[in-house]
Formats: sequence, C-alpha cells, structure tokens
Amino acid sequence: MSFRLQPASPSRPNRCQLFGPASNTRLFEKMAASNADVINLDLEDSVAPSDKESARANSIEAINDIEWGGKYLSVRINGLDTPFWYRDVVDLLERAGDRLDQIMIPKVGCAADIYAVDALVTSIEQARSRKRKITFEAIVESAAGISHVHEIASASPRMQALSLGAADFAASMGMATTGIGGTQENYYMLHGGQSYWPDPWHWATANIVAACRTHGLLPVDGPFGDFSDDEGFRAQAHRAATLGMVGKWAIHPKQIALANEVFTPSAEAVCEAREILQAMEEAKARGEGAATYKGRLVDMASIKQAEVIVHQDEMIGQNRR
Ligand code: COA
Ligand code: MG
Repeated sequence: MSFRLQPASPSRPNRCQLFGPASNTRLFEKMAASNADVINLDLEDSVAPSDKESARANSIEAINDIEWGGKYLSVRINGLDTPFWYRDVVDLLERAGDRLDQIMIPKVGCAADIYAVDALVTSIEQARSRKRKITFEAIVESAAGISHVHEIASASPRMQALSLGAADFAASMGMATTGIGGTQENYYMLHGGQSYWPDPWHWATANIVAACRTHGLLPVDGPFGDFSDDEGFRAQAHRAATLGMVGKWAIHPKQIALANEVFTPSAEAVCEAREILQAMEEAKARGEGAATYKGRLVDMASIKQAEVIVHQDEMIGQNRR
C-alpha cells in the first residue's frame, strides 16, 4: 500500500439510481415508493427547454412535500453550457429544504466545472444558514470528462459519486453507435470464423472506477436505454459490477429489481466472504499470512475483497430497517 491510504467511499447503498423527468409529476410518488436506493429528479435532458422552469418548481415542491423515506435524494441540474443551471442551483438551494441530499452535475469536463457549482452552492448555504451540506455527483460523458476524470473526482470534498453516461459519451467521442449502453453490433472480434462482442465501455468504466477508488467516490454505471431487454441490462450491470462499480441507473421501474439483484451481494457470496475472513483469522492465530479455503489460496488481499462484500451486505441491511 502506498503511504497515502486509499480513502473509503461514502457508506451508503447506491445499487440503483432511479431517474424521472421533473416535468412528469405523476411519477414522483411512484419513485418514492420504489426500491431504488437513490432518486434522481431530472431537470436536464429528459425535460424540454420550454418545461425547464415548471420542472424546476415541481422538483422543489416534490423535495419538500413527498415522503422519500430513506432514499438518497438527488436532482440533476442542467449543464454548465446552458442558461438554466445557475437558476437550478439558486432555486434548489434557496427553496428546497434540507431533505435534498445531492446535486448531480452533468457533462462535467474539468475540475473548474465542479469548482463553479461548489462556489455557488457554498455561498447560498452560508447566506441561508442551511444546516446540511449538499453533496455532488457528476456524470462523465464526454471526451474531456474522461480525460480529466481524476481532477474531477478530487475537485471538491462534496464529490461522492461519478456515473458513466454512455450515450453522450459515445457522441462526444465520435463513436459509431446509437445504443445507450450495452454491446454494439459493430464492435466485435473475429476468431476462427466466430464473432465475439467485447465491451466497448470497458476502458471508460475502468477509468472511472480507478478515479473513484483513488479519491473515495462511488463509481456508478449510467443508463441502459432498451428497457425491454432485461438480459441485456443484466449483462451490462454484471460487467460494471465485475469492474468495480457499485450500482446502475434505472430509467424505467422494471430496471430497479434488475440493478438491485446484480449489485446486492448474494447470500452465498456473503457467506463465502465471512468464511474467508474466518479462515484468515485462524491463519493469523497460527502466525501465518495465508490460508487455504476450498482448495484455493487466500491472503491479505482476500481479506480486503471479502470485507468489501460484507460491508456492502451490512449497509444494505441497515437501509432496509
Ligand atoms: N419512475 C417511476 N415510475 C415510472 C417511471 C419512472 N422513471 N417510468 C415509468 N413509470 C411508471 C409509469 O407511470 C407506469 O405506471 P402505471 O402502471 O401506474 O401507469 C409504469 O411505470 C409503466 O410505465 P410504462 O407505460 O412502461 O412507461 P411510460 O411510457 O409511462 O414511460 C419512459 C417510459 C421512458 C418515458 C419513462 O420511463 C421515463 O420517463 N423514464 C425516465 C427517463 C429519464 O429520466 N431520463 C433521464 C436519464 S437518462
Ligand atoms: Mg447525458
């Protein structure tokens, strides 16, 4: 381990982030009653320009009036290249109560984008004597965003999470795709006459995970557009989880159970993790640094992997209570 220890990420479940346009008030109660860990009311791309003002007002009313239970409550503001974002921040911070946990900043390209929002938020928090500090999550969805992902991750102590936004990312990178996430027809390997479809999001995903883990943030996989394709969603979520992401967005309620299924450690995985920790305790008592568990080597690194799984299980359990 480096002398600089890897910081822990925020200790809260983030298996599923459910999105809904803040222009569609009929969804709010359903979102609140859902099994998503995080709610993202959207002011950005799912809201038409003519609806921006009413959507902003709806989101403030919803934050103040709806019973959101134990959910982490976030609002996606408009991008810093628009005439909307400053008013989103000012109205949310001045008029939404302390129930608002987080602001999501889309299309972030550099640390200065986070700095700008931080300066505005900090000033309003002071002026209004807000008791709870708003946290930030950001979406990495551009060539600049992925190129500057480390400086973005460390741009403010408010930063808690980074999501990969596949569709805008693909557009910014000039990728020849139209699907939102998942494998892409023309991204294939050919071997012995057989085609294989690797993961075109692998590099961006792993980069975001590395930046998040370095700076103590939660790495999250963004949307999967085809909400009729459960198996496609599952496969994408499994790949993201394998690479270290902690959760995934849902853009339709049927994706919530799928995300929770993939990002909740299974009972077997938790049991195995506890057994590995037990085996290592016993090895330690014998003065040994490694042990055999089910015919395979476990050592110090296995303890850390097992602890991640046990910790996740405990956090999810606490949230259910
Ligand atoms: N949150 C909560 N409930 C939702 C929901 C959401 N995001 N999306 C749909 N529902 C509800 C519907 O209201 C409907 O409820 P009902 O059975 O009580 O009538 C039910 O789930 C089934 O919905 P369905 O008819 O299949 O979909 P739809 O045509 O109403 O909506 C979308 C489809 C894609 C327009 C809608 O899911 C949506 O707006 N998703 C979020 C988009 C978004 O936020 N994008 C930004 C991030 S990429
Ligand atoms: Mg986007």
